[in-house]
Amino acid sequence: VGLDAATFFGPHPAIGERLDCTVWIRRHGARQVRADLELSSEGRVWAQIKGWEDRRMESELWMWTAMQYPQLNLLAEPYPHLEGCCLTRQAFASSAARDFFARRYLDGTEIARYRALSQRRKSEWLAGRIAAKDAARRWLWGQGHGPIFPIEIAVHEDPGGRPTLRCSYADDLRVSIAHKGVTAVARVAQGHDVGIDLERIESRTSSFEESAFTAAERRLLPDVDRDEWQTRFWAAKEATAKRLGTGLGGDPRRFPISAVEGERVRVGECPVATRREGDMIIAWTEKE
Ligand SMILES: CC(C)(COP(=O)(O)OP(=O)(O)OC[C@H]1O[C@@H](n2cnc3c(N)ncnc32)[C@H](O)[C@@H]1OP(=O)(O)O)[C@@H](O)C(=O)NCCC(=O)NCCS
Repeated sequence: VGLDAATFFGPHPAIGERLDCTVWIRRHGARQVRADLELSSEGRVWAQIKGWEDRRMESELWMWTAMQYPQLNLLAEPYPHLEGCCLTRQAFASSAARDFFARRYLDGTEIARYRALSQRRKSEWLAGRIAAKDAARRWLWGQGHGPIFPIEIAVHEDPGGRPTLRCSYADDLRVSIAHKGVTAVARVAQGHDVGIDLERIESRTSSFEESAFTAAERRLLPDVDRDEWQTRFWAAKEATAKRLGTGLGGDPRRFPISAVEGERVRVGECPVATRREGDMIIAWTEKE
């Protein structure tokens, strides 16, 4: 976050040249660290930095490789049940760590957007962007591409709020994002729209059931594990509405569940896979 002075004793080293670095920690507290540094090449001091100050943050195992080599490693985890899908389950313990990754994942437009959000929204929004960019990078690596920094994948949104994805490695990659708190999931696919949703299984009121589902849909709801199935139905509608790019628009009945086939439900004609993960349901649209 700042330094008092930097003194150089020679020309800049060539790109790729390795220097020795000695660090004297002068002071540290819970959130801040102050140090002096000396950089030398073959025993000769090249630069001295006095009064370097930085914020301290946690560096947990799950974030370490992405901190070191962000162009090679994911911060999100691949979701094994769906190609092109990644999820984040871990929360940053500090806003310093969250901001650190925001600066590594977001381009100029995205960072301006991020800075304007409330603290709570920042966390979920960033989690969704991390999941989306990592899903895209993993997909591209599967196509044979080499190192890709997260910042090379732009995730902006259209006027209706639908996320859009752009990068120089592939044309027409599309994305869908969902989050619940700090858990976020995103899915990419090439050349066709996708929808994904994530909902927590919880006990909902009968008035929710009546406003969300028609009588025909309620007849399709199994009696056992009703909370879970309400959530599957709801998530399936949300995923379909996202695939269309409209969102539910306050009218979930516009997306009627027409059939249940195992864990797959149909929303109109659209098949939607649903899967329980702990206390959550993930739903994603499949190709018709
Ligand atoms: C906008 C909507 C997609 C939000 O869904 P949600 O389940 O509340 O939230 P999720 O976390 O699952 O999804 C949010 C993400 O959907 C994406 N999204 C937003 N609008 C979208 C659209 N029109 N099309 C596709 N995706 C969209 C965004 O990426 C958003 O995350 P971000 O803003 O952080 O980037 C939409 O379906 C909605 O308004 N839901 C509110 C519930 C409702 O309508 N209730 C009716 C009362 S009975």
